Amino acid sequence: MSKEKTVFVCSDCGGSSPRWLGKCPQCGSWNTLNETVAESPGGRNRYASGSRPALNAAQAVAPLSSIEASDFERTATGLDELDRVLGGGMVEGAVVLIGGDPGIGKSTLLLQALDALQRTGLSTLYVTGEESGAQVALRSRRLGLDHSMVQVLAETQLEKIIATIEQTQPAVAVIDSIQTMYSEALSSAPGSVAQVRECAAHLTRLAKATGVAIILVGHVTKEGALAGPRVLEHMVDTVLYFEGDTHSSFRLVRAIKNRFGAVNEIGVFAMTERGLKGVSNPSAIFLSQHSEPVPGSCVLVTLEGTRPMLVEIQALVDGGGPSPRRLSVGLDRDRLAMLLAVLHRHAGVACADQDVFVNAVGGVRISEPAADLAVMLAITSSLRARAMPKGFLAFGEVGLAGEVRPAPRGQERLREAAKLGFSVAIVPKANVPKKPIEGLTIHAVERIEQAMDVVRELQ
Ligand code: TYD
Ligand code: MG
Repeated sequence: MSKEKTVFVCSDCGGSSPRWLGKCPQCGSWNTLNETVAESPGGRNRYASGSRPALNAAQAVAPLSSIEASDFERTATGLDELDRVLGGGMVEGAVVLIGGDPGIGKSTLLLQALDALQRTGLSTLYVTGEESGAQVALRSRRLGLDHSMVQVLAETQLEKIIATIEQTQPAVAVIDSIQTMYSEALSSAPGSVAQVRECAAHLTRLAKATGVAIILVGHVTKEGALAGPRVLEHMVDTVLYFEGDTHSSFRLVRAIKNRFGAVNEIGVFAMTERGLKGVSNPSAIFLSQHSEPVPGSCVLVTLEGTRPMLVEIQALVDGGGPSPRRLSVGLDRDRLAMLLAVLHRHAGVACADQDVFVNAVGGVRISEPAADLAVMLAITSSLRARAMPKGFLAFGEVGLAGEVRPAPRGQERLREAAKLGFSVAIVPKANVPKKPIEGLTIHAVERIEQAMDVVRELQ
């Protein structure tokens, strides 16, 4: 295949230059020029689908009510926790991006999923650009998939991969990983924004044209974004993130975008000697097991997708230097800074000259503001070196004015906590259930000061 002409296009203003420059000649932004294939005027669009011309034909305009609303047909992967985040299973022609830190278990999960699909009689293809066929085979033996019929292709060149997919027409193809793939049309290195975007765009077209469901594996860069400035997220139908602490055995798969299902749904897995096993009742895995309550710890019930889960927040407040540190793991750092300011202003708890470390146990990442109250109570508990009472939990969002706002589906959270033996809770007033929950004493608060008063009485 002859090399196509390439140009460098600015990601900010869209201006172009025939060669790479550090600064865009049009808008003056730095480091924004990315290589792409030059579009030949009047030529056929490179992303147009070849195999199904009907897709490109002009469609007739029709009133919405006359269009038949058929639900997507889903193929369950056989891994329940993965199906849950996908919204029921794989959809024909869908493109799923699964991102996560290296070593978290993406390849393991997908190999298990492909094998399960293959066993239901579907054909599957696993394209590996990171490992050799022998390494994949070794992994499959370790997973106990000795007689796996999953088709493996060790290849990194996009054009060859596309040819193989068109020829073999698998139901599901995994590209592991998109950062190792390269298109001959571009001269930039595999993993560069230009290559990642080019390869993903072609594979997306291919999925839509052939009906093959494609799963792209993407590594997350140090900043936490999928390689390139999230270039892929808008292109694909579903974005899943694989999270968790590599030192703990639990892994979460979270849907952050899903055209075929709900977002924020999570699947929970445990990494074992023989691969990933789904955890169907994950409520209590993110609690550390203290025999007696310890200062600096507070449990909250977080609602991830449709399931409530109990998560322990730990805080350590300790004498710092002239520029104290604020560090959070699993929680947003800016939100922590805000909560510290609210604590100081409205509850008179000052940590200005102290280092503050906050951690969500078990490598879980909490994005909902309902964690605010638990974070603040854990910090106060550490600062005062006084433990929360046994069986205590709290949740609720805290605003800048010191008000405690309700969390969605409070009753469900409280019921889950009671089921696990928790006995006392501080919750926003609007979350107090009308009927008392057996075994659970509930204290309703409207402001952070009130919460502090209740805690002082309980300790
Ligand atoms: P892997 O799937 O290679 O991660 P990724 O593709 O996201 O980079 O997972 C690798 C880790 O999982 C590695 O540290 C070993 C561990 N592991 C197990 O604990 N049990 C297993 O059965 C397998 C296959 C891997
Ligand atoms: Mg891998």
